[in-house]
Amino acid sequence: KKTEAWSALFSEPMSELVKRYTASVFFDKRLALADIQGSLAHAAMLAKQGVISAKDHEDIQRGMAQIRGEVESGAFEWKLDLEDVHLNIEARLTQLVGDAGKRLHTGRSRNDQVATDVRLWLRGEIDLISGLLVELQEKLVDIADKNVDTVMPGFTHLQVAQPVSFGHHMLAYVEMFARDHDRMQDVRRRTNQLPLGSAALAGTTYPLDREFVAQQLGMEGVCQNSLDAVSDRDFAIEFTAAASIAMVHVSRLSEELVIWMSQNFGFIKIADRFTTGSSIMPQKKNPDVPELARGKAGRVVGHLMALITLMKGQPLAYNKDNQEDKEPLFDTVDTLKDTLRIFAEMVEGITVKPQAMEQAALKGYATATDLADYLVKKGLPFRDAHEVVAHAVKAATSHNCDLSELPLAVLQQFNPSIQKDVYDALSLRGSLGARNTLGGTAPAQVKAQVERHRARLSQQ
Ligand code: ARG
Repeated sequence: KKTEAWSALFSEPMSELVKRYTASVFFDKRLALADIQGSLAHAAMLAKQGVISAKDHEDIQRGMAQIRGEVESGAFEWKLDLEDVHLNIEARLTQLVGDAGKRLHTGRSRNDQVATDVRLWLRGEIDLISGLLVELQEKLVDIADKNVDTVMPGFTHLQVAQPVSFGHHMLAYVEMFARDHDRMQDVRRRTNQLPLGSAALAGTTYPLDREFVAQQLGMEGVCQNSLDAVSDRDFAIEFTAAASIAMVHVSRLSEELVIWMSQNFGFIKIADRFTTGSSIMPQKKNPDVPELARGKAGRVVGHLMALITLMKGQPLAYNKDNQEDKEPLFDTVDTLKDTLRIFAEMVEGITVKPQAMEQAALKGYATATDLADYLVKKGLPFRDAHEVVAHAVKAATSHNCDLSELPLAVLQQFNPSIQKDVYDALSLRGSLGARNTLGGTAPAQVKAQVERHRARLSQQ
C-alpha cells in the first residue's frame, strides 16, 4: 500500500520526526494562491499543446476554482503528511476531479513549480511595498512642505554644525525612500521571470510552450537555463538586500526621532498613539515604535544573512536547502510592510517645535561658517578667515552668548573689515537663505524640491 506520494520504492514509511523536519506546509501554504495561478497557466498550456485533453483542462479549472474558494475561506484542510503546499493542493485536486488532477504534473517538477510560486508571490508583495514606499514619501513631503522655513541645527558628529531647514532634513529621507522604491522596481524585473518548464533540472520531453505560460502569468521573460531556473534564489536575496537598506533608512530616521523627542532636545512630539507609558514611572512617554523599528532593522538584516548563507555552499541544481528561503523571506516582507505602514501614519502625527529647534541652533555657533564666508567676501583667504572666526567663537563662549550677540566693536577687534551687515550673515535665517545652490538648504531650494517630489510621486 502506498504511504507517500513517491513511495512504491520505499520499504518503510517516513519517521514522524523526519516528516515534521522536512515538511514546509505550515509556512509555505502562504503560497497557495500563487501555486494555483501557476498550475492553471501550466494546465492551459498543456491543453493548448495537446498534452492533456480539453476535458482534463476543464476538470482542472473546476477543481482549482473550488480549491481556491476553500483556501480563501479557510476551509482547506492542510495535511502535514503531504509535506508542502504543492502536494497538498495536487492531492486535493485529484480527490475532486480524479485522473485530470493526476495529469497536471506532466512536464513539471516541484522544483520549477516552487521557484515559480515564490516569484509570483514576491512580485505581488513588491508591488504592495512599492505603494507603501510612495505613501511614506508623500507624508514626508507634506511635513517638509510645512517646515520649509523651520530652522534647526544641522549636525555632524552629532555636534551643532550649520543651520538647516527642518523641511530639508525631512526631504533627505524622501531621497532615501525614493532610491528604495527604485531598487524594488529593479528587483521586480529580475523576479518576474518564469522558471516553469525547466522541470526537475534538465527541461522536459513534452512540447511545452514556456513563452505562453509566461504571458499567462504576466511575466516579463522566461528563465533561459533550466539548471539555473530551479536553483537560483538571487531574486530573494536581492529583495531582502533592498528591504534591509530600506529598514536601515527607517532605523536612521527612528534614531533621530528618539533623540529629537528626548527632553534634552524637545524638537518634536509624536502622537500619543505611537508612544507607551512606563509601569513604574508615571511621567513617561516612550518612543517604543521608532525603537522597535530600529530593532526590527536588525531582524531583516539577519534574514539577508540567512538567505545569502543558505546559497553559498549549494551545488547545482535544486537542493532541499532552498526550502529554508521561505521563512526569512516571508518575515522580511511582513516586517517591512508593517514598518512602512506605521511610519507613514506616525510621520503624519509629528508635532514640530520650531522654537526649541531655533534655540538649539543658537547655542552651538551654527553660523560660524557664515562669518568665515563673510570675511572671504571682504577679501580674506578662507584659511585666515577660519582662524579669525575661531577667535570670535572663543570670545562668544567666554561671554556665554551667540556670535550674533557680540557687539560690532568686539567683532571688529578680530578683523577691521567687519561691518554692520555682518549681522545679516550671522542670523539663522540669513545663513539658511544664503545656501541657495541646487540641493542646498535655502527655503527657495527646499520649496523647489517639494514641488519636484510632488510631481514625481504623482506619476508613481
Ligand atoms: N517544498 C519544497 C521547497 O520549498 C518544494 C520543492 C521540493 N522538491 C524536491 N525535490 N524535494 O523548495
